Amino acid sequence: MELYIFFLTISFSFFSCYIFAKKIINYLNPWCKCEICQAFITSSWREKFTNLPDWYAHLLSNSPTKTIHIHIMNNTIIADPKNLEHILRARFDNYPKGKPMSAILGDLLGQGIFIVDGEHWRFQRKLASLELGAVSVRAYAYEVLNNVVEERLVPDLLTSSGEAVDFQDVLKKFSFVNICRFSFGVDPEGLDGLAGAFDIASSVSSERALCPSQLVWRAKRLLNLGSERRLKAAISKVNILAENIIRERKKKGFNNKSDLLSRFMGSVSDDKYLRDIVVSFLLAGRDTVASGLTIFFYLMARNPNVEARILEESDRVLGQRLSSCNTAIPTMEELRKMEYLQAVMYETLRLYPPVQMDSKFAKNDDVLPDGTHVKKGTRVAYHPYAMGRMETIWGPDCLEFKPERWLNDEGVFVPVSPYKYPVFQAGVRPCLGKDMGLLAMKVVAHTLVRRFHIRLVDPSWSPHFVPGLTATLKDGMPVVVTER
Ligand code: HEM
Repeated sequence: MELYIFFLTISFSFFSCYIFAKKIINYLNPWCKCEICQAFITSSWREKFTNLPDWYAHLLSNSPTKTIHIHIMNNTIIADPKNLEHILRARFDNYPKGKPMSAILGDLLGQGIFIVDGEHWRFQRKLASLELGAVSVRAYAYEVLNNVVEERLVPDLLTSSGEAVDFQDVLKKFSFVNICRFSFGVDPEGLDGLAGAFDIASSVSSERALCPSQLVWRAKRLLNLGSERRLKAAISKVNILAENIIRERKKKGFNNKSDLLSRFMGSVSDDKYLRDIVVSFLLAGRDTVASGLTIFFYLMARNPNVEARILEESDRVLGQRLSSCNTAIPTMEELRKMEYLQAVMYETLRLYPPVQMDSKFAKNDDVLPDGTHVKKGTRVAYHPYAMGRMETIWGPDCLEFKPERWLNDEGVFVPVSPYKYPVFQAGVRPCLGKDMGLLAMKVVAHTLVRRFHIRLVDPSWSPHFVPGLTATLKDGMPVVVTER
């Protein structure tokens, strides 16, 4: 009997200690216990999904309101077009980029257009839209683009014909030269190594956004440890790149104001501010176009019937001109007539938007059209990647790559509401380089499809993304390029 009481007392003590320890752990661990937050903290979503955006797409599609919450990140993610219109247009003033965004991306982007609000934003947007919106600039952009394609991209591909190459890398290099020539009027010759630093800076900066608490990365930054140490080194290199571009532009003179940087130099004398502007435009123009194009060639390798239709359309539009030269460069007018090519671009970006998720911060408490209560300071993000894969928006064939969905019975391209297709954002602050970006994608796609066979080294390859400000493939995309 005594032994029995002894064991009972010991068991009870252990049980009490267990309950007490659990209470302390719960007290010290304020993290939410909901299924989504637990899957986020433990990364258990990886058991079913390769890519984080695919997990979000799954959660958002299955949510009755198409809204989900990652409580531990104080993050509400939306995918209902009505909610998007609310935050991007109707209550735009309540959803600025906000201070948390400046903190996360500030070391890389400084006061650049992507992360500022108010006067700084209005000033940069006004000057940039004067430049990017001008009709004369389109012709200039087209000329620069075709030069970079014919003088750099095509010769590089001919040299490596038959060998395996990383096409993501090829297209990033192309976009880098193109945006430097177009936006800054300089050639980034010899600056290739620095483009890699730009990749590291972009990916580590966006990893910060995945930390459940800012304290984590702030402490690492203070102590100059791990990823923060790499970020610091990468940003130093990016600064050298930006300074070189500014110095080069100043050397050439900037009186004719034919490029974006010259236009800014006419109004800004602070070199640090110019550096921030240069870095933002590099990010805007290089990575988005390269990302969209890389996936375009993946989709062409998987859908030879679509590639064949692009060629048919090109033959029809270029017509007679092909009899004298099979590699004729289309005029802007001819490119505009290629409705199917336009549809392929929109369809590519629907399934694989270069900006997969985009965040704002609530300035004050609010209620979204779906009834979701948003507390001041909440990060509210919309998710173009998930929205491109939603049956409620695109119908039962939403996961199929079907360019025809963008064409009417006469084969003419028909756009949809930008709140359903926010690939270039929507509302008050949409992308300023949409036309430029689409033009670059179409020129490269058209030229390379006409001249080369581009096939995946491993036909079963599928995209595996890493965290980044724009969609970036983990180990690139190995392809073999051969001349047609
Ligand atoms: C396929 C190509 C492109 C895509 C998908 C794209 C997408 C986007 C998206 C989603 C945003 C909103 C980002 C945010 O607010 O966080 C944005 C903003 C912007 N984009 Fe693009 N972009 C592309 C190409 C370009 C190009 C080529 C340029 C410049 C030459 C450019 C210039 C800008 C600028 C300046 C903004 C900031 C607008 C503002 O905050 O007022 N974009 N873009």
